[in-house]
Amino acid sequence: MSSSASQRRADEYSLSEEEYRFVCKLVYDCTGIVLDERKREMVYRRLMRRVRETGLPSFSSYCERLKNDEQELPAFINSITTNLTSFFRENHHFEYLKSQIIPDLIRGKSDRKLRIWSAACSTGEEPYSIGISLLEAMQGRLQEWDAKVLATDLDSECIEKAKAGIYKTERISALQDNRQKRWFMKGKSTTSDSVKIKSEVAALITFKTLNLLHDWPMKGPFDVIFCRNVLIYFDRATQAELIARYHALLSQGGYLMLGHSESLPADYIGFEVVGRTVFRRL
Ligand SMILES: C[S@@+](CC[C@H](N)C(=O)[O-])C[C@H]1O[C@@H](n2cnc3c(N)ncnc32)[C@H](O)[C@@H]1O
Repeated sequence: MSSSASQRRADEYSLSEEEYRFVCKLVYDCTGIVLDERKREMVYRRLMRRVRETGLPSFSSYCERLKNDEQELPAFINSITTNLTSFFRENHHFEYLKSQIIPDLIRGKSDRKLRIWSAACSTGEEPYSIGISLLEAMQGRLQEWDAKVLATDLDSECIEKAKAGIYKTERISALQDNRQKRWFMKGKSTTSDSVKIKSEVAALITFKTLNLLHDWPMKGPFDVIFCRNVLIYFDRATQAELIARYHALLSQGGYLMLGHSESLPADYIGFEVVGRTVFRRL
């Protein structure tokens, strides 16, 4: 490309101050995610991909589309969210679930109901890790229980991927061999580099699209809520509001798991700390 053509292209795809402010406000209003000047490069890259997909010639025409066509919003939001996750990420939570929570619930619950929510589940690795932990902890006795894992995320593409339960083999390479063999099926073709989660794990999980900022259709109570590595994207008011809503939806003595760099507001009195980023409803 000639230098004048590449200059023209760069100009076409420039994102003005006003456009960036518009994008930040729209993301905040729709998702609660706070974007600032430090995120500008990242937002630019992610949004650029979406602008190209639409075939629109510039950011300004894309901003116009966003103003006039609500149907563009899901794809816009999907393009902005950070979906980083992995199987057994922050493994101490799954160890705690297996060694403390499940045994306690088995002893204490006469209704034989277990309810776990993975809020902001991304592409499904977190709820499948919960399902595997449940099956391992219950050692064949899970059929005697009414156990369900609800897994939700704002990003509809993530939910579709999660429902499919198919992952590149490298995504499970850090798991012990016996776990890989026990809970995943290899792709059929010899050249396949994918694995699929086994149906006995998948059967425990219901995936739904849900914006944490909106009303929640579930009544609860939940025994455990995983809300990991999403509060960090929100401001303090949104974090506090969500924590109060989780508190209300947990059973008494229920557990809230947060991500490694997340915590409860300093003066929050509804939970006790029982482990590394593990909180128990009082
Ligand atoms: C970094 S991932 C965390 C995934 C998983 N919990 C973990 O810790 O590995 C954050 C997820 O939060 C989701 N998210 C962001 N804002 C949300 C909102 N308002 N409601 C629901 N999910 C949201 C994103 O779509 C993304 O999949």
